[in-house]
Amino acid sequence: MTIHRLWMSCVLVLVLDIRVDGAMTWNGPPSSRSPRVDLTLSGPCFNSVTSLNINNAEGTLQYSLVSQNPDGQFTLVGHRIYCNELVIRTNGYSSYTLTVRVSDGTTTLTDTFTVTIVGLTKKAFGSACTADSECQTTYAKCLNQKCTCEATRFRDLQTDTCLPKKAFNSSCTADSECKTTDAKCLNQICTCEASRFHDSQTDTCLPTLNSVIICEWQNASLSCPAGKVLNVTSGVFGRTRGNCICPSHSVENKNCTSPGSTSIVQGLCNGNNTCELYARIDIYGDPCPGTFKYLEVVHTCV
Ligand SMILES: *[C@@H]1O[C@H](CO)[C@@H](O)[C@H](O)[C@H]1NC(C)=O
Ligand SMILES: *[C@@H]1O[C@H](CO)[C@@H](O)[C@H](O)[C@H]1NC(C)=O
Ligand SMILES: *[C@@H]1O[C@H](CO)[C@@H](O)[C@H](O)[C@H]1NC(C)=O
Ligand SMILES: *[C@@H]1O[C@H](CO)[C@@H](O)[C@H](O)[C@H]1NC(C)=O
Ligand SMILES: *[C@@H]1O[C@H](CO)[C@@H](O)[C@H](O)[C@H]1NC(C)=O
Repeated sequence: MTIHRLWMSCVLVLVLDIRVDGAMTWNGPPSSRSPRVDLTLSGPCFNSVTSLNINNAEGTLQYSLVSQNPDGQFTLVGHRIYCNELVIRTNGYSSYTLTVRVSDGTTTLTDTFTVTIVGLTKKAFGSACTADSECQTTYAKCLNQKCTCEATRFRDLQTDTCLPKKAFNSSCTADSECKTTDAKCLNQICTCEASRFHDSQTDTCLPTLNSVIICEWQNASLSCPAGKVLNVTSGVFGRTRGNCICPSHSVENKNCTSPGSTSIVQGLCNGNNTCELYARIDIYGDPCPGTFKYLEVVHTCV
């Protein structure tokens, strides 16, 4: 009778006997072999080693790591099973089933044991991470190496959960809960701020277009609410419509625009909270002499 000794050692040192006596048998029930990898101890997987030590005095035993479930990238090197701390920390499983096979050339023995991972710490919202599974917030993702909610969700502080964002007009407690692009939580409702309107096609709060018409020789000021600045979409000096706008006897040409008038208005107004505009040919040129003109400006406040 030949006795080979098999140790499977992690936190627990397990001694398993293999008896080759016509047939090999494991000594001890499988349930007594439950190695643990303790990640709270210093060093990755005990200096990279979760050992399956096999004292193979006669050198006749062949052993292999047949399978692992889930795949924790355990590897059999020589007499030992190694684990990979990064993988074990990041794939979110706290136990693995490993199947090991031992053979003496005549008899093959297969057995399965469970490795328990202890000390897996979960990371708080906003913490650095390398995989979704590390994040403790429910439904959080590891985006740009941080535990966060994906764009379609917001973090509910009470339950520490990434919940789906809320539709337009829903009740809310913060801007970040609202699904509509650029929506705000005003009076506990997801809505657009005063200078914007809700575009239902794109579900976006777009800046409201404001139109101002200044008849020739007149002046007027454009202004935005406090904290907002002008962004001119167009500034047309000339005449493109009939006598209903800036009425006059001289409206023959209704297809008259001064080239470059938009960029002149943009130069005067963009980025300013207010700007003063004069509808005069010495500023915009005269695209149609003899026709009474006007300056029509369309702008947003951004
Ligand atoms: C939001 O509420 C207003 C007023 O009740 C309503 O007119 C509008 O259609 C609603 N918008 C959406 C997208 O539900
Ligand atoms: C128009 O111009 C006059 C003279 O420069 C100025 O006093 C007045 O405030 C201007 N009005 C507006 C609305 O900008
Ligand atoms: C100004 O409006 C244009 C569209 O007319 C837009 O592309 C641009 O981003 C706006 N500028 C700012 C500062 O919002
Ligand atoms: C307006 O003038 C432009 C060129 O200045 C011309 O291409 C266009 O056809 C004119 N439109 C009408 C309605 O006359
Ligand atoms: C803003 O306003 C100032 C003073 O009213 C004016 O001089 C300037 O041209 C305006 N435009 C920009 C882009 O600053």
